[in-house]
Amino acid sequence: MEKNQKQSNSVFIHLVVVLLLCSSSVSVSERIVPLLQSYEKPIFRSNFQTIYDTSKYGVFHLSNGLAQTPQMGWNSWNFFACNINETVIKETADALISTGLADIGYVYVNIDDCWSKATRDSKGQLVPDPKTFPSGIKALADYIHGKGLKIGIYSDAGAFTCQVRPGSLFHENDDADLFASWGIDYLKYDNCFNLGIPPKKRYPPMRDALNATGRTIFYSLCEWGVDDPALWAGTVGNSWRTTDDINDSWASMTTIADLNDKWAAYAGPGGWNDPDMLEVGNGGMTYEEYRAHFSIWALMKAPLLIGCDVRNLTAETLEILSNKEVIAVNQDPLGVQGRKVYATGKDGCSEVWAGPLSGHRLAVALWNRCSKVATITAPWTAVGLESGIRVSVRDLWQHKVVTTDAVSSFSASVNAHDSHLYILAPATPSYSVQ
Ligand code: GLA
Repeated sequence: MEKNQKQSNSVFIHLVVVLLLCSSSVSVSERIVPLLQSYEKPIFRSNFQTIYDTSKYGVFHLSNGLAQTPQMGWNSWNFFACNINETVIKETADALISTGLADIGYVYVNIDDCWSKATRDSKGQLVPDPKTFPSGIKALADYIHGKGLKIGIYSDAGAFTCQVRPGSLFHENDDADLFASWGIDYLKYDNCFNLGIPPKKRYPPMRDALNATGRTIFYSLCEWGVDDPALWAGTVGNSWRTTDDINDSWASMTTIADLNDKWAAYAGPGGWNDPDMLEVGNGGMTYEEYRAHFSIWALMKAPLLIGCDVRNLTAETLEILSNKEVIAVNQDPLGVQGRKVYATGKDGCSEVWAGPLSGHRLAVALWNRCSKVATITAPWTAVGLESGIRVSVRDLWQHKVVTTDAVSSFSASVNAHDSHLYILAPATPSYSVQ
């Protein structure tokens, strides 16, 4: 081939790539803070990058500017299922404000399935159920926006939603336009009645339709992990469910945590693994179990979407959901998903989960999944610290520094099914960034 022809071919290919990137609204994403910074003396072991592998993150991500940290808010499904109406949604918005939860970041008020009528209107448009949402979704959106909050809605990449309301498959543009005209800020997009069409074909059209509206709308994929969305959804949505539905039990919560853990290397600012919404406060788990659920969801950078009735919170539930130190782990700008790094005891039920944070810190959870109280140890070799490193350890549930000079490992006694969550920070003053 002639040199000139080669050159013009490569210019052409370049142009096509640029056009493709623009049309699908994805862009190369970079972390705000590099994973590792250099020090006068090394703090982290040479295997740090292997333990906290992020190599699969960020080749291309949606460039809608959202999800720089995992989304926070509330969703109607886990507590209300189909028993929703505009009063419940408004009262929930009010309660997010009066409890202070909105102030600490829970800003999305997300309506799940069952908001729409069973059939589209004569023009083919979705219609809010006139019995339960008589004022319409636009009025509700105005109410929620008036409180300084954001509103989410739900649809399905299939012929029907899971509760057999009209789905958006082949109606993507009309529905996205309608959602945008109502002022919707967030779409959860489900997977029922999908006609056997692969998710990779069904989810991008809604991304493009949302993008074409010109309104910035968070796009939350809910294909239950069936087609390993971590492998492809970074170019499609801001988060993707990695598992089947959670239920309000220890067995479900622990199973889901382990399934979501597998995909840690793929998450980061712009696109997160979603192990499903919180069950904290719904009554099926103990205080310790809910504390573990919240700690691990925060550590693994899961969306923090409250799934209980925030109009009737117990003091314990509010204490868990409003732990600002735990939330700060979830919302840390480094955006690296924490993961299970070490397990000992019977069937490995004494677990250490950990993840890097900005500012050369580590979040470490000691999670006792055994049936009896246990002393759990996090050795520096397992969490990726150099063995001579001296760290201070802050307990995020006790809200205090428990030691300023832990060396080579840290241990604590943890009650059955409870999880402690700590931040480890270098205690030696000479460790300054170069
Ligand atoms: C599916 C989803 C749930 C919820 C229900 C609603 O099961 O995974 O999160 O949205 O549908 O019908």
